[in-house]
Order: sequence, then C-alpha cells, then structure tokens
Amino acid sequence: MLDLTTRGNFARHRRLRQSAGVRRLVQETRLSVADFVYPLFVTHGRGVRDEISSMPGQYQISLDQIGREAAELKALGVPAVLLFGLPASKDARGSEAYDDAGIVQDAVRAFKDAVPELVVITDVCLCEYTDHGHCGLIVDGEVDNDESIELLAHTALSHARAGADIVAPSDMMDGRVGAIRETLDDAGFVQTPIMAYSAKYASAFYGPFRVAADSAPQFGDRRGYQMDPPNAREALLEIQDDIEEGADIVMVKPALPYLDVLAKARQEFDVPLAAYNVSGEYAMVKAAAANGWIDGRRSTLEILTSIKRAGADIIITYHAKEAAAWLREDGA
Ligand code: PBG
Repeated sequence: MLDLTTRGNFARHRRLRQSAGVRRLVQETRLSVADFVYPLFVTHGRGVRDEISSMPGQYQISLDQIGREAAELKALGVPAVLLFGLPASKDARGSEAYDDAGIVQDAVRAFKDAVPELVVITDVCLCEYTDHGHCGLIVDGEVDNDESIELLAHTALSHARAGADIVAPSDMMDGRVGAIRETLDDAGFVQTPIMAYSAKYASAFYGPFRVAADSAPQFGDRRGYQMDPPNAREALLEIQDDIEEGADIVMVKPALPYLDVLAKARQEFDVPLAAYNVSGEYAMVKAAAANGWIDGRRSTLEILTSIKRAGADIIITYHAKEAAAWLREDGA
C-alpha cells in the first residue's frame, strides 16, 4: 500500500515550517501579555525615578509616579504588578514591613486608586526592612523560623488591609503559608489568595535585585532557608506542603536554571503555577544585547516562551512591558 505521509523512509517535518502563517497555525505554545506580572520597586520621596544600574530599563519609583506607571501598564495590557518596597528606615524586626502606613501599603492604595482592575500582588518578606537583611527574625544569631512567621503573617495582613489582591510570601520559612492563611481568615480576608514562592532556590541570580531592593544579607547567606540548587524532588515536597497549607498559586524561582523543576511541578500539580524570571536572568540578556552579542528582542521572547512551554501559567518578569509591546507588534 502507498504510504501517503512519507516518500522514502523519512517524514517531511519541514512541510509545516514553510511560512510564517503555517508556523503560527501549528504553534504549540502561545506567549500572551495575559501571562505577565511586572515586578516594581517603590520608594519614599517625591519625583523619584531612579534607574537601577544593573537592570537597565527598571526603576525605583516614588508614590507620585504610580499613576503614570499604572496607566502605562493598562495601555500595554499587562494585567498585574508585584510590589517590593524600600523602607524609610530599617530595624532588627523589619517594622515597616507590617506598618499600615508603610511604603508598600501606600503603593497598593495608589495603584488601586489609579487603575482598580490592575491586579496588585505584594511580596511578603522582611529582607528589605531588616537592618541585617535576612528574610526573618534573628534569634541567637540564627533566622528563627517560628518567630519569623508571625511577623510575616502580620505583613501579609497589613497588605491585604491596604487592598492587595494577592499576597506572595518569598521568605522560605516553614509553615508561613499556613500562618498567613489563618491570620487572613481570622481577620475576614478569606478571599485574599496566596501566591507562595514555594520552590525558591538560594540562587546567584538574585544579585541585581538585592542592589535594587537594598536587601543583601549583612552576614552569612540565605542557604539556611532557601533551597539548595541541586534538589528537584525536594521542590515537589515544598510545593505540596504549601498547597496543603493553603497556597492558591505556587511558584518556582528562578525560572531558567530550574525549567526542569517547573516542568515536574506542572506534571504533578493542578494549581496555577508561576515562574519568576529573576533579576540576574534579566541583567544577562540586557548586558549581552547592549554589547551586540545577542538580539535582545528575539532572545527575550524565546526565553519567555521557554518558561511558558515548561509549564508556567504566570510569568513574573522585568521584561513584561517591552515584551507586551513586541507581542502587540507581532500581532500575537
Ligand atoms: C525577597 C525576594 C528576593 C527576590 C524576590 N523576593 C531576593 C532574595 O531572596 O534574596 C529576588 C527577585 C529577583 O532577583 O528578581 N526575599
């Protein structure tokens, strides 16, 4: 019998690659602006719009700039922001993190006033607010787990009170998702979702962020609480526990060195899955593109597509605004 699909002993895979139209028709993964969350650093002061040197195109902005920022995101169709704050002062207990008049709390209100439909997600952590730069409370020279989760829960509650749509704990203390869920529920915020940084690795790729957020640890490192890069099965345990404690969305972070973890998580769990394309990943692309070593636009879209292909429903990325504009140009 005549085999209609092949001539000789090989398949003609190139048939479906002949034109942009056909390629688009058979495309398995479609990147969309609807996938993006844009991380943003807010700071005290007026008229502040300071570019972060290791993250070209990213800024620390003051509250008065938020109206403009929100309008820009709305025009581009970027659906969500993830807020980080730079406090007026730091102390051992990270007090401004859970101050109802803190910088993030004010920024949440400003975003919700400017564009109510923009989804405002807040990073819940202490490292930007503590003078020692660790993500929790120090007791006897160690980051104390159980003391820390109480402050983290207060922080999440304060963000919810300010109007945050989603709270996102990034500290990697054990039991914090459960503590936050209970605290939110007790205060009547049963409808506030938790996006947990569940599989967050102790990564070298956070370097530019720690400058941008002024959150580098002043002694030691974060290996006692963030995950060890060689471990993938452990990531699934972390995710499982966070879901059981009440996480509505789980996250793998960073994205690119952990695409395998992302793919495994996608297979294993049915809750929405986020990936954080972190500051160091962004900085590498920008540096190489500035040197003319890679095509910045094509490599960015390829990277973001790979994160989606690996299984992410939500991509947190500093590229969100430029990628939104490129996708629109491409008619995607
Ligand atoms: C806070 C936090 C960090 C990032 C997000 N939340 C830094 C860290 O854990 O040191 C990193 C984000 C990035 O690199 O873009 N704990």
